Amino acid sequence: MRHFVVVGILVVVVSILTYWGINASQLMPVEASAQAIPVDWMWNADMKVIAFLFALIMVPLIYGLIVFHRKKGETGDGVHMEGNPTLEVTWTVIPLITVMVFAYLGAYTLGETRVVDPNASAIKVHAFQWAWRFEYPQGFTSDELFLPVNKQVDLQMDSSDVIHSFWVPEFRIKQDVVPGRITEYRITPTLIGSYKVRCAELCGTSHSYMETPVHVVTQAEYDSWIAQQVQAASAALNAGGPDAGKALVGKFGCLGCHTVNGTPLVGPSWLGLYGSTVHLSDGTTVTADDAYIKEAILRPSSQVVNGFPPMSFNAEALGVTDQQITDIIAYIKTLK
Ligand code: CUA
Repeated sequence: MRHFVVVGILVVVVSILTYWGINASQLMPVEASAQAIPVDWMWNADMKVIAFLFALIMVPLIYGLIVFHRKKGETGDGVHMEGNPTLEVTWTVIPLITVMVFAYLGAYTLGETRVVDPNASAIKVHAFQWAWRFEYPQGFTSDELFLPVNKQVDLQMDSSDVIHSFWVPEFRIKQDVVPGRITEYRITPTLIGSYKVRCAELCGTSHSYMETPVHVVTQAEYDSWIAQQVQAASAALNAGGPDAGKALVGKFGCLGCHTVNGTPLVGPSWLGLYGSTVHLSDGTTVTADDAYIKEAILRPSSQVVNGFPPMSFNAEALGVTDQQITDIIAYIKTLK
């Protein structure tokens, strides 16, 4: 009996110390979203059970090793014990119930993180090797994500190449970004500050560099940032030339298939394209001049580049004008 009391007390003490140790090690970054609250609650509940289980296994094991080890001169066998149905039923039923309760709590917590606010504004997120681009409903794109505090946003995410994963540790929740479909990430930031979205799915050579700032700002700062971006985008468009071309490339989603850094994507990269010799799939070659690029934008399937699938860009449906094509070509010329 004495052994049970001592082990019981030790299990309680070690449980508390283990849980305290896990908390003190500060595994979690700050809690910066409404969705983080149920996640952290669940995490803490898990840690309490894990701390208790750890103590329940380690304390009797170590206690037994020390107290019941073979004394000097002892040569006999240990006590022979046959099964103990009460004990076996107990250690089956209690864990079964615990696991079922936690399955329910896990499902409930997942539901809590997905509560839909009908007033949430949607922002499109494009993931590609190896960066993020955010397309705002006001008609501009940004390399950094700005979010107003205490407002739910609905990120509509797609990928143009491989699977990526949108993860802001301070927001806790994480969502895969899969080519060919749109995945949703609802978040209500609650703490003003700057964080980082990082890709949490191994997606190639520069996976570890696939991160970009996420700024949670007041509604007033958000509104003025939006106004500033809208103005900058329209100013660039009106000015014409390479800057307008660059803005148009973002507007028409060209970078979903082409890169400007030399890496081929769905289509060839634009780096060093202008003036180069292009090998077409029909075996002919052509020089990438204004006429060629214009034709490639307007009728992409008329001259398919060798090694790439025919592109599906529909300039007519998007209402691309001749002036806009001239601006885009001006931009491509700068990519050397
Ligand atoms: Cu994208 Cu890893």
